[in-house]
Amino acid sequence: MAKKVLVTGGLGYIGSHTVIELMNQGYEPLIIDNLSNSEVSVLDRIEKITGKRPEFQQIEMRDKEQLQEVFWSNNNQIVGVIHFAAVLLVGESVEQPLHYYFNNLTSTINLLECMNEFDVKPIVFSSSCTVYGNPDQLPVSENAPIKAAVSPYGNTKKVCEDILKDASVAHPIKVVSLRYFNPIGAHKSALLGEFQSGPPHHLVPFITETATGKRAKLNIFGDDWNTADGTCVRDYIHVSDVAEAHINAMEYAIKQDDNSFNVFNIGSGNGYSVLEMVKSFEKTTGKQVPYQIVARRPGDVEAVYADNTKAIKELNFKTKRGIDEMLKSAWDWEQALAKQ
Ligand SMILES: NC(=O)c1ccc[n+]([C@@H]2O[C@H](COP(=O)([O-])OP(=O)(O)OC[C@H]3O[C@@H](n4cnc5c(N)ncnc54)[C@H](O)[C@@H]3O)[C@@H](O)[C@H]2O)c1
Repeated sequence: MAKKVLVTGGLGYIGSHTVIELMNQGYEPLIIDNLSNSEVSVLDRIEKITGKRPEFQQIEMRDKEQLQEVFWSNNNQIVGVIHFAAVLLVGESVEQPLHYYFNNLTSTINLLECMNEFDVKPIVFSSSCTVYGNPDQLPVSENAPIKAAVSPYGNTKKVCEDILKDASVAHPIKVVSLRYFNPIGAHKSALLGEFQSGPPHHLVPFITETATGKRAKLNIFGDDWNTADGTCVRDYIHVSDVAEAHINAMEYAIKQDDNSFNVFNIGSGNGYSVLEMVKSFEKTTGKQVPYQIVARRPGDVEAVYADNTKAIKELNFKTKRGIDEMLKSAWDWEQALAKQ
């Protein structure tokens, strides 16, 4: 019998890439999404890549009855849950904190209640390296202290981890929380990637949009940080490597005892500065990226990259795609988008 995995937010950027990996590895994803930040046409793209159309239901997770109906109609079939659904724009979360807390916390609580009700135990949760704030030590390991969040969005990740941890004490669930670093790039087919509505919120789409001429210049926020070239350092990881980590994490979660809670860093382990990213992009694609240095942004962290040894050892996690491949795939995707 096919192994059905409920994928919340499965039409979004990381979710859709994970759905492909699930299908590649013999799982049967059941996608739920409210389409607040995604489109149904992603299903066509997944079908083109995998040759099969995954099951999808448009569900608002803030509405527990809608979610219960999904569990009810798939009773005894769901082997685990991967929970991507969330709103995630840092700036927007400062302007709309209640929307952020309501959406991200209520969805998670409703999901956990349904899992209890229908006896589904394994859950893989999308957390973030934002929980480490400005880390005291690099690379940052899972044992590093959790810092006060700088945005309501970051706080929802921290609070959701707390909810999952407390729930795992009281209920027989098996939690794996994955703290992603910076997922970038797109599927190698260039049929699937991150859709942008309005100005990009992350570096790489900003680089690719500047290279196409859609944006005049890339703004680099500060060149006086205490790093080799003065620009901020991050850990970038290919979205397909992040996607594959979820299959390992789901299999790990299934094997754990009830009442378990485990956390893993999902990063490449390498730090790249903003200027290094620009130079790598220019070298890989042959396209120039005009940029200007502007003032530091409040809330930015100087440098963060992962100690990923725990994930390598315990999840058998591997990054297969290097920085050039990440940037090349992002560029191919940008060009494919421009043709649509
Ligand atoms: N992209 C990153 O850089 C990054 C980094 C760290 C952590 N994360 C986490 O990874 C997860 C996925 O991120 P993404 O970049 O794929 O985002 P995304 O916006 O592309 O995907 C999230 C999906 O969830 C859906 N959704 C949101 N609220 C919902 C609700 N109430 N009910 C049903 N569906 C809902 C959206 O429509 C969207 O399709 C999020 O939890 C995010 O916080 C992302």
